[in-house]
Amino acid sequence: MLDPMARDLPTMRTAYEHGVLRRADLAADPIDQFGTWFDQWTATAPFDAAAVVLATADAVGRPSARYVLCRGVDARGFVFYTNETSRKAEELATNPHAALCFGWLEQARQVRVEGRVAPVSDAEADAYWVSRPRGSQLGAWASDQSEVLAGRDDLERQLAEATARFDGGDVPRPAHWGGYRVEHDAVEFWQGRADRLHDRFRYTRDEIEPAAWRIDRLAP
Ligand SMILES: Cc1cc2nc3c(=O)[nH]c(=O)nc-3n(C[C@H](O)[C@H](O)[C@H](O)COP(=O)(O)O)c2cc1C
Repeated sequence: MLDPMARDLPTMRTAYEHGVLRRADLAADPIDQFGTWFDQWTATAPFDAAAVVLATADAVGRPSARYVLCRGVDARGFVFYTNETSRKAEELATNPHAALCFGWLEQARQVRVEGRVAPVSDAEADAYWVSRPRGSQLGAWASDQSEVLAGRDDLERQLAEATARFDGGDVPRPAHWGGYRVEHDAVEFWQGRADRLHDRFRYTRDEIEPAAWRIDRLAP
């Protein structure tokens, strides 16, 4: 019997011809290469340039994925902020490894990042917290992220409580809110090309000299 909920998802006949990626174009360091591509991505004025899919896994290796906003990148890794009692934080507590996937589809580009995850310092989290709008700060106090809610009313009541609690004053960073850094040990740049013959280059840390990077072209 025909399943009324079944859908064949459309195949986009998009020409994957937005550019090429040659070994000669690559920076020696993946963060340098990321910066070049990120600037090109932001020039397309995306809705939120910093959005990235974060994959974590629980203690037995079952994966889960969700978007976060990447708030900083440097030689140490890729930083995001979240609630430390959330599902992702619980998974990272037992399995401190993660993968990020930036999907810059309008440019037929993807950047994949893998590495160990470590909390950012309190000073770093504080500096980011104070840069956030007051509404986001109060929202962080109001939400027990990833917990089951009886209804939206509960969320709005918790927001009203937080608003009253910090009335007129600064909103401090909750103890359960902080940042994580994915300390990259592999970064892959993917450029879509015609006829499925895409360009892929993966950076991995040199085994002898961890500050240096090995670059391999991978089959698409
Ligand atoms: C574009 C976008 C950006 C997001 N950014 C964040 C973020 O920076 N931090 C965060 O905790 N959740 C963010 N979220 C919400 C998460 O996707 C997710 O719903 C939430 O963190 C709970 O995930 P968990 O239950 O797996 O921990 C974002 C969602 C979207 C769609």
